[in-house]
Amino acid sequence: MCGIIGILGTHEVSPQIHDALKRLEYRGYDSAGIATLNKGRLDIRRAVGKLINLSDILVHDPLPGRSGIGHTRWATHGEPTVANAHPHRAGRVAVVHNGIIENFRALREQLEAQGAEFTSQTDTETIVQLASHYLDEGMTPTQAARHTLEQLEGAFALAFLFEGEEDLMICARRGSPLCIGHGAGEMYLGSDAIALAELTDRVTYLEEGDWAVLSRSGAMIFDAEDKQTNRPVTRITLEAARIDKSGHKHFMAKEIAEQPSILQSAMAQYVGNTPDGLNLPETLDFKQTDRLILVACGTAFYACQVAKYWFEKLAGLPVEIDIASEFRYRDPVLGPANMALFVSQSGETADTLAALRHARRHVGQVVSVVNVTTSSIARESDVALPIHAGPEIGVASTKAFTAQLQVLALLALRAGWQRGVLSAEGCKARLAELRLIPGFVAQALDREGEIRNLAETLSQARDVLFLGRGTMFPLAMEGALKLKEISYIHAEAYAAGELKHGPIALVDKELPVIVFAPSDALFEKTVSNMQEVMARHGKVILISDLAGLTQAGDVPYRVQMPAIPEFIAPFIYAIPAQLIAYHTALHRGTDVDQPRNLAKSVTVE
Ligand code: F6R
Repeated sequence: MCGIIGILGTHEVSPQIHDALKRLEYRGYDSAGIATLNKGRLDIRRAVGKLINLSDILVHDPLPGRSGIGHTRWATHGEPTVANAHPHRAGRVAVVHNGIIENFRALREQLEAQGAEFTSQTDTETIVQLASHYLDEGMTPTQAARHTLEQLEGAFALAFLFEGEEDLMICARRGSPLCIGHGAGEMYLGSDAIALAELTDRVTYLEEGDWAVLSRSGAMIFDAEDKQTNRPVTRITLEAARIDKSGHKHFMAKEIAEQPSILQSAMAQYVGNTPDGLNLPETLDFKQTDRLILVACGTAFYACQVAKYWFEKLAGLPVEIDIASEFRYRDPVLGPANMALFVSQSGETADTLAALRHARRHVGQVVSVVNVTTSSIARESDVALPIHAGPEIGVASTKAFTAQLQVLALLALRAGWQRGVLSAEGCKARLAELRLIPGFVAQALDREGEIRNLAETLSQARDVLFLGRGTMFPLAMEGALKLKEISYIHAEAYAAGELKHGPIALVDKELPVIVFAPSDALFEKTVSNMQEVMARHGKVILISDLAGLTQAGDVPYRVQMPAIPEFIAPFIYAIPAQLIAYHTALHRGTDVDQPRNLAKSVTVE
């Protein structure tokens, strides 16, 4: 949610900042901007909308300078306009900022009373106005930055650039991630290692509350108590941070297509020569756990909903599940025998992180399932389990979902084994089923042509319903979310049996109703609900295996999935859910990778 980058370079930095913003655009694309020191003077270019608009400006009006900061915005305070775009400037200071300054109104009133003139509606402008005020009082840039930081409340990452200070950049991390990159005679800072991927492979992750003074010869880092401190330099694998579409039209298409290989290689990290066949940290203790609390947002939350079925069925473990933004506000009853498990692709989702911090004070174990292993959620967990999905750039989550499911399934097996519900043989038999997933996912991907045709019909719809029972219910919710976010078609999901308790009133001959129904123990019940829709002329699209499609008889639209063990059905049915959304969005001509109003990493509550 907003991406920031800073470079103290040895050459012109604006092309490098622009490239880094391209890698950060997944964090927001309401506006973009760059500030450099051009012969010591602050010079700024900003544009509303995607980075391409800023690129056009830079072609005609380049930005010289060897020191600079850049920003890509997801609007919080103030609509996307040039005036609200970052970098913001007041006097001799420019700032880029990710996060929210909660006390900005009070600060703004105070500054305005002292004569400051604001030019934007943003919370960020209070930061530059404050710093500028302190500079005017005679403070050095470092003193001004430190005094400014002391005044700020909220969660943020930010960077200051000061006029006349070619070899200085000051940055701070409170609540939002920030890392420093080390180059040869150059220094960098960025919201994440991806931003720095083409610049350096040596990165220092700032800790919560840290702030740092950068020059080309290095960084002085201070902790939350203003004590100078050392933070380790980590080597990042550039391969892991490399971002390209590998010949696909969209990142989303690439990320959908790479699921078989990702799931296979991720699985290899988790199998071992242990009694249950699993290579999972021994510190994970499900035996002493009396309740598992699953917390996440969005797609990750639906992965948790699937996992609830597994933990209950395979491990007999009571599970409670919460949307992260609700969790800590409902005074959940927590205790030392509880394990809290947080699922997050980015590992930076503000609501999930806040829920984790709340839970940590009460529960026995805090576990996370993350894609970004250096993220705040990973670092603040007792045990962090990577999903090994590689960078996910498409804003709509796809491969992270199935990779999250995989780790959650393995955890459910470990829980079943530790709690004596699953024997070693039982555990290994399930593991063998999980190993079939890449092959079946590849088969599901082969149905893309059918789904493409179907999507043309769906693209005309105003509303779409998704139905499923058991683990297919969260899959239906995931399908509806995907469709909403990238095609902008209104979609809802219901547990198939719930339809008759109200939503069936929506059904008419215009309404597509997508039914996920593998031929399992719940199949007949789901098909009865499907018949109820057909009796009211709803346009049913049945997604099932050959046996299911045959048994269901005459259905207007159908997509055939492979016949699979019930346990792994969520992985396979995720593919049509994703492809339906993708192809419907293509038909509607929306921006698949960067849908309107969204950002990849939601670092505000
Ligand atoms: C939907 C989507 C979002 C995220 C949610 C949580 O396609 O991507 O719903 O799943 O914002 O994000 P993470 O997993 O990063 O915590």
